[in-house]
Amino acid sequence: MSPQKSADDSGVLVQLGPRTYEVKVVTGQTAQFGAFVKEALERTWAGSSCRRALVVTDSHLADLGVPSAYEAALAAAGISPETVIMPPGERSKSLECAGQLYDFLVSRSADRHVLVVALGGGVIGDLAGFVAATYARGVPLVMAPTTLLAQVDSAIGGKVGINHPLAKNIIGAFHQPAGVWIDTNTLASLPERELRCGLAEVVKYGVILDQDFFAELEQGVDLILARQPQVIRQIVRRSCQLKAAVVASDEREETGRRAILNFGHTVAHAIEAVAGYGGAFEHGEAVAVGMVAESRLAVRLGWIGQELVERLARLLARFGLPTHAPGLDPRRLLEAMNCDKKTDRGKLRFVLPRSIGKVELTDLAREQDVMAVLESL
Ligand code: GLY
Repeated sequence: MSPQKSADDSGVLVQLGPRTYEVKVVTGQTAQFGAFVKEALERTWAGSSCRRALVVTDSHLADLGVPSAYEAALAAAGISPETVIMPPGERSKSLECAGQLYDFLVSRSADRHVLVVALGGGVIGDLAGFVAATYARGVPLVMAPTTLLAQVDSAIGGKVGINHPLAKNIIGAFHQPAGVWIDTNTLASLPERELRCGLAEVVKYGVILDQDFFAELEQGVDLILARQPQVIRQIVRRSCQLKAAVVASDEREETGRRAILNFGHTVAHAIEAVAGYGGAFEHGEAVAVGMVAESRLAVRLGWIGQELVERLARLLARFGLPTHAPGLDPRRLLEAMNCDKKTDRGKLRFVLPRSIGKVELTDLAREQDVMAVLESL
């Protein structure tokens, strides 16, 4: 991955017929955000009728003064913004916080012609997106993700939702945004741990879809960790292209194609559930361990050799990500997976690698193999 390569600043399109939208990857051009939003709205039913925007952000970004540049850009484009600041963290993905946003919109007599702008990480995108999906049966949404994980994953593809106290992401909708505005400058101040968590999803794209990208990541570790702007833009953009293509081929996760994005996630969700959300493992860290564990399962199925697991684990470790999760009871991990499997007609299903760049959805893994892998975590 060479920083000399010129960046291609054109947008990535998520091709969904009448719901097609652009993912724009920029570095510090917030003044153009208003024009981007106006153009994005023109492609939706709302056209130019949106004159008001609710900007949803969190107190961390507000303390850094981030929202004001977005507000100014919207105002300059003739869209009058009002900002609501939510507490940072997973707890804001609640019915209570959604209720606060509904209250705000009702108090302003907002009708269907109000735009919701989600300015923040995955929590803000999911929460604000859910409100946009449900208020007045759906209002336009623009995502402005500010963490690497949100930029390469959650802001693209229309999955929005909140948590039930007993189940994560269980209340939600598919609501595609009108556009996604990614400013990679927001990553400059991202805490190390959050950057690493996003990198786990970036590595995932290499494994599931693109062996050249995986090799580029191997070559670019130092520049990526140094947050070299052009290299960061390149990996964000490539990840967005890969996600956009998957979403375009299976928008609502109905054919199994979109499910390939869940590589590493079956084990990851179990780790998060057993270790406790917001506890020892952040989502991206659990995904890193999960990808290694699920690759080991592929070895047991005879799909790949051990050297592929080692190559993957080496890259994740170089990014500072964990590849093991010692101390978690394998039986409880299996139970947590079996809770998930209810939705899959009683079978454990995994997305497993056939090679770097190619994965397959399978229910062939035997419970004793899964258990053996969990015991080796
Ligand atoms: N994050 C997985 C998906 O969007 O389908």
